Amino acid sequence: MSEPFKHLLKLSDLSGEQILSILNLADQLKYERAHGIDHPVLAGKTLGMIFQKSSTRTRVSFEVGMSQLGGSALFLSSRDLQIGRGEPIQDTARVLSRYLDGIMIRTFAQQEVEDLAKYGSIPIINGLTDYAHPCQVLADLMTIRERKGSFKGLTLCFVGDGNNMANSLIVGCIKVGMAVRIACPADYQPDPALMKWAAENGDFQCSPDIPAMAQNADVIYTDVWASMGQEGEAEKRKAAFTGYQVNDALMSVTNKGCMVLHCLPAHRGEEITNEVMEAHADEIFEEAENRLHAQKAVLVKVMKG
Ligand code: CP
Ligand code: NVA
Repeated sequence: MSEPFKHLLKLSDLSGEQILSILNLADQLKYERAHGIDHPVLAGKTLGMIFQKSSTRTRVSFEVGMSQLGGSALFLSSRDLQIGRGEPIQDTARVLSRYLDGIMIRTFAQQEVEDLAKYGSIPIINGLTDYAHPCQVLADLMTIRERKGSFKGLTLCFVGDGNNMANSLIVGCIKVGMAVRIACPADYQPDPALMKWAAENGDFQCSPDIPAMAQNADVIYTDVWASMGQEGEAEKRKAAFTGYQVNDALMSVTNKGCMVLHCLPAHRGEEITNEVMEAHADEIFEEAENRLHAQKAVLVKVMKG
């Protein structure tokens, strides 16, 4: 039995055992859903979903997940909330804690997510910040274990920008015992504190040398070159990330049976070719489906009480 936890703010707050316990429950919920078994364990509970950025997968999978668990979800666009007009997060947290049973928030600064947890009294789930995307990495780990059977001896190589996805993959993969390689330009490295932690606690390397990082990978992972909020830097980033593309040449240095994952949305022709994307569509869209199962597991863990 792993220790219970109240929030999912970032994966570094969780132990490897807690991450595995989420994945085990996610596998069980996926199996039960496929066999028509439902558990309305969150009946009468409401999840508020605050979005300061766009979303397809996160919004729909959380809303459907709450409904499948017998509860309901409330979509709260920051454009319509008083947050958008400057009401402080500490006041919003204290008010929403009196109506809701949990909050999922997608925003820019990680500090806002931490402050919601600090000032509110209900579970807070990070649905993506500039720093982290823990829900996505739980689904990624679920998909890797489903396809590979275990995490033992596996290497994941992330190719691209060292921001939210790379940060959370480093923590999640190291905590379950995988080796991690990050191929990124020198100016776009992941969080230095996380890289130091990874090097001290596991098998970790980061370098601009793409083939060296991708060599012997069992999972190749990529993400867009310009994330949400960085649209104004798109041209500069296109130049900086030229070559950081998942294509047939890169796949040729990986291990046999190497998986390709992408958090989506994908920009074909930039970080991934259409050919590689389509050749690995089964894995990539199963990964997207697994957002639903992994997040249902998180919702049960933090909101069931
Ligand atoms: N991967 C992901 O979080 O997708 P959305 O931005 O569509 O939610
Ligand atoms: N790095 C991307 C991930 C999208 C799921 C972004 O932040 O836009």
